[in-house]
Amino acid sequence: MAEPIRVAVAGAAGRMGATVCEAVTDADGLELSGRADPALDTELADVLGDADVVVDFTIPDTALDNAVACVDAGVHVVVGTSSFDHDALRKAAERNWSGGEGPRAFVAPNFAIGAVLMMVAAQRIAEHMPEVEIVELHHDRKLDKPSGTAAHTADLLRKAGANVHEPIHSIRLPGLVAHQEVVFGGPGQTLSLRHDSIDRSSFMPGVVLACRRVGELPDPFTIGLENLL
Ligand SMILES: NC(=O)c1ccc[n+]([C@@H]2O[C@H](COP(=O)([O-])OP(=O)(O)OC[C@H]3O[C@@H](n4cnc5c(N)ncnc54)[C@H](O)[C@@H]3O)[C@@H](O)[C@H]2O)c1
Repeated sequence: MAEPIRVAVAGAAGRMGATVCEAVTDADGLELSGRADPALDTELADVLGDADVVVDFTIPDTALDNAVACVDAGVHVVVGTSSFDHDALRKAAERNWSGGEGPRAFVAPNFAIGAVLMMVAAQRIAEHMPEVEIVELHHDRKLDKPSGTAAHTADLLRKAGANVHEPIHSIRLPGLVAHQEVVFGGPGQTLSLRHDSIDRSSFMPGVVLACRRVGELPDPFTIGLENLL
């Protein structure tokens, strides 16, 4: 039988990180090898040596340093943290790449399959209804805005030729988890797409898939769960 993939989690004491620890523990072929979080008095450096893959759900200020430390140590990294410098991570992953091999960095602005399908459908709709607004709604302890999902949706829509109206609208309220509406308008009609993550379990199949597949990716840096489906 193949050896399990050893997965360490950065941000393991957080809302997402704790849920990822449970999902990894329950997943066939994965083994939880470490939990890093200042709240657990454990640094990323303490768990890197025992990991094949690190999953990072921390804070925007620290995600880049963590992810670069992973690829510099030859460890694959799966990043869910939002609003950090993707280009800097791309460069670090490329720097550690040689002869088509090396540690891979995979970033997903949203690990929920429904959110990915919303983005796919939005790009198709934009070909016919290019005027569009994005409204994203999250719990009131989210640190950044607009959300990484909204920024990624806007990028994809612009590439599909849409006129994404500024600003992206951000709503922060207790009771919410992670939600997004993409509203298209044309003469005499509107079309709305809405996705709701009502529980953090919505993200776990995507995170587990990324842990299993990150080591096989053809490039040093990949963004978007759609690339694994
Ligand atoms: N990609 C997705 O699908 C997705 C889904 C939900 C949330 N998110 C993002 O994930 C991130 C985490 O969200 P959350 O709600 O779990 O936040 P949270 O505040 O509950 O957890 C963050 C954790 O990171 C820890 N941390 C801070 N610095 C650290 C470091 N240097 N090393 C290790 N751990 C460190 C904190 O102590 C905390 O426990 C946010 O950026 C959020 O936007 C992404």
